[in-house]
Amino acid sequence: MKVTIVGAGNVGATCAQRIVEADIAEVYLVDVIEGLATGKALDIAEAAPVVGHSRHIEGGEDYAPAAGSDIVILTAGKPRTPGMSRDDLLQVNAAITTSVVESIVAVAPDALLLMVANPLDVTTYVAQQVSGLPRERVIGMAGVLDSSRFRAFIAMELGCCPSEVTAMVLGGHGDSMVPLPRHSTVSGIPVTQLIPAERLEAIVERTRKAGGEIVSYLKTGSAFYAPSAAVTQMVGSILRDEKRILPTCVKLQGEYGIDDVFLGVPAVLGAGGMEQVLEVELSDEERAALDASGDHVRETIAQWQKLQQES
Ligand code: NAI
Ligand code: 2OP
Repeated sequence: MKVTIVGAGNVGATCAQRIVEADIAEVYLVDVIEGLATGKALDIAEAAPVVGHSRHIEGGEDYAPAAGSDIVILTAGKPRTPGMSRDDLLQVNAAITTSVVESIVAVAPDALLLMVANPLDVTTYVAQQVSGLPRERVIGMAGVLDSSRFRAFIAMELGCCPSEVTAMVLGGHGDSMVPLPRHSTVSGIPVTQLIPAERLEAIVERTRKAGGEIVSYLKTGSAFYAPSAAVTQMVGSILRDEKRILPTCVKLQGEYGIDDVFLGVPAVLGAGGMEQVLEVELSDEERAALDASGDHVRETIAQWQKLQQES
């Protein structure tokens, strides 16, 4: 199994490290900055004897070595800095996504594209438009990260083991995301029975703003440890055919009453890529929040289309 990662910055390099060290696949890391991907890949390879894996990893600036990749992860793009929203990255990152997808499709036409660059739901749309690949093979990572943050905050509140917490965040990767406390449990016990409503609401709000919270501390960039862990779980589920049900940014085709918009929903990830969208029962309030999130993504896609027409 082979994974190419485009962008050897914070998220890309950390994904590369996690994927080889978890023994999931060999990795080719690529970046426009001369020497960056080569140096980071070599550094990760030099850790292999101590960490104890034998996965090949190398880096470079050109795309030819990406041939034969099963998955290509696209992290190439600008991260946000304090005061920026993810949507502020639209123009620059959509342009980078377009050129990277064209390069990838030329050498690895069968690869599944896993988008990471922000604004995530729109770059995933751009990747699908440019590649022409079916929706099963163009997906985005955000929901696993947002859900992991929600789970971590619930665990911090209760002082319990984080992995005992299950929770799901749907919708777009932005302030309109839709955490679902009603579907969240700790060892099977609904969190609504364990955490008072006003504390739970504060946790939901912190989850919506969690990316910005990290930016406010780092100042020069955004989160990468939790994002790379989330990407690695999705890659593992696909390449090992684990068929995990993970919140995934996918093109909706009528599910949840929404059409032709990329949005985070529960999906089965396995050897077939995005194998199935699952429709969970939502309350009227949850459905309205998902609709609003879809409307926001639709508006941002329209902004990109307008920029395209103007250029
Ligand atoms: P970074 O700045 O550390 O790395 C980005 C890398 O992309 C740089 O090394 C840069 O040289 C490279 N790059 C730029 N244009 C390129 C091109 N045309 N071809 C190849 N490489 C190119 O940024 P970081 O922290 O790794 O974040 C990357 C992106 O991922 C950002 O847009 C960020 O907002 C997004 N992100 C999304 C998350 C999500 O949940 N979907 C989570 C975390 C980050
Ligand atoms: C995050 O949520 C930057 O979108 C990224 O941390």
